[in-house]
Amino acid sequence: MSDPTQPSIPAFASRDPNSPEFWNERFERRYTPWDQAGVPSAFRAFAERHRDAAVLIPGCGSAYEAAWLAQQGTPVRAIDFSPAAVTAARAQLGAQHAQLVEQADFFTYEPPFTPTWIYERAFFCALPLARRGDYAQRMVELLPPGALLAGFFFFGATPKGPPFGVERGELDALLTPYFELIEDEAVADSIAVFTGRERWLTWQRRA
Ligand SMILES: C[S@@+](CC[C@H](N)C(=O)[O-])C[C@H]1O[C@@H](n2cnc3c(N)ncnc32)[C@H](O)[C@@H]1O
Repeated sequence: MSDPTQPSIPAFASRDPNSPEFWNERFERRYTPWDQAGVPSAFRAFAERHRDAAVLIPGCGSAYEAAWLAQQGTPVRAIDFSPAAVTAARAQLGAQHAQLVEQADFFTYEPPFTPTWIYERAFFCALPLARRGDYAQRMVELLPPGALLAGFFFFGATPKGPPFGVERGELDALLTPYFELIEDEAVADSIAVFTGRERWLTWQRRA
């Protein structure tokens, strides 16, 4: 991901964001401009409105949100396919909750519970454009009717990502056959990479 506040992007060997190596290299070299280094306020407000609801967090990165949920006693699983991301996430959760983080690919992972909601932050926009249909299909498979896909979506076409922004019409076309949009809010505490281009959306799985 590029960040205008960072003067230069290191030369990386891996150029394919569909591979764990791409993300591993960036975590290992501490080039993580998407990392909020904390819990976003919209996430916290949503989680407080849905206490005790089981949460799956795909592409968790450093997993600040999973650590916060675990401290509340909320059932949570955070997954990432990059071993270096999993190491960072487990460090956030600490020894007591480290087992709540698994190294796994979202497209094949089977969670140990049926999620009441799945949290999205900087995961959809991390995927190559060709995987967007797979994302929607996997969300449909994982979430039963009434369950929620909630989190931050990054807008505006950005072909040279990640982050890959999405046009609003494309996202709506992808998800509305299966989900009803029930919340759509501006975000107050975006970090530089996402400022002015992300919104909090909550999608409810249709019956
Ligand atoms: C831009 S980072 C965002 C991390 C975190 N969600 C955050 O907000 O800081 C994208 C993350 O998704 C992970 N990822 C990408 N594709 C994945 C997949 N198919 N399965 C699991 N994790 C994946 C990457 O390893 C990376 O940690």
